[in-house]
Amino acid sequence: MKIKRVRTNDGTDTIFNEKFGETYHSYTGAYEEALRKFTLPTQIQDFAETQNTIKILDVCFGLGYNSSVFAEIVTQINPKIKIKITGLENDSWILEQISQTEFPTENWQLFQTMQNFEIHSKNLDLKIFIADARKTLTNLSEKFDFVLFDPFSPKSCPELWEENLLEKITKVSKKGTKLTTYSCNKKFRKSLENLGWKTSDVKGVGRKSPSTLAEFSPQKSE
Ligand SMILES: C[S@@+](CC[C@H](N)C(=O)[O-])C[C@H]1O[C@@H](n2cnc3c(N)ncnc32)[C@H](O)[C@@H]1O
Repeated sequence: MKIKRVRTNDGTDTIFNEKFGETYHSYTGAYEEALRKFTLPTQIQDFAETQNTIKILDVCFGLGYNSSVFAEIVTQINPKIKIKITGLENDSWILEQISQTEFPTENWQLFQTMQNFEIHSKNLDLKIFIADARKTLTNLSEKFDFVLFDPFSPKSCPELWEENLLEKITKVSKKGTKLTTYSCNKKFRKSLENLGWKTSDVKGVGRKSPSTLAEFSPQKSE
């Protein structure tokens, strides 16, 4: 397949996906998006400083930029913390592009040299499940601290923004779990709120519309 690589405005590269008619990241900056829409809004400082382990669910792993940046920031705050990432991705082709793609994080070499879609290093354990996220989610039993939610847009990939998928994410969340996503889609936020999440705006990066931070705040402790 012919790969259409696109240089974004912060100098990092993304890829254009013909089937969905979208790039995997925002033109305003792929690195910047991972940092400012998916990582910093979680205000990770306190959690990273005080915990020994952090569990991250990366829904729609793609090139893994969100996980890479998130892990990098967490490690900068607490170099001893053990980071466990579960990635959900249904297209092994995009995962194979990671080794051919440059990205400016210190841990990127680990991502580029992953074996069998897994990384096991001193502080980072990562495992990617290659299947439809809707199916994989029903097989997960552990609870996650953070969810990075990054499907293609609600318009081109509506099936991943539906309430029944969010129900499955809610089942693997606990009180205080934080979810970040680039979209501020109203129906999506309403579904999250129906399920016990509190949603808030994150100031837009490179555009007027905000992105979303959600925190699982059930009435009763899960
Ligand atoms: C916007 S891209 C994600 C970019 C990625 N988070 C990154 O940092 O590079 C959306 C991803 O969702 C994946 N995807 C689409 N439908 C899916 C499904 N049903 N289950 C799992 N992954 C899916 C696509 O293959 C694509 O890699």
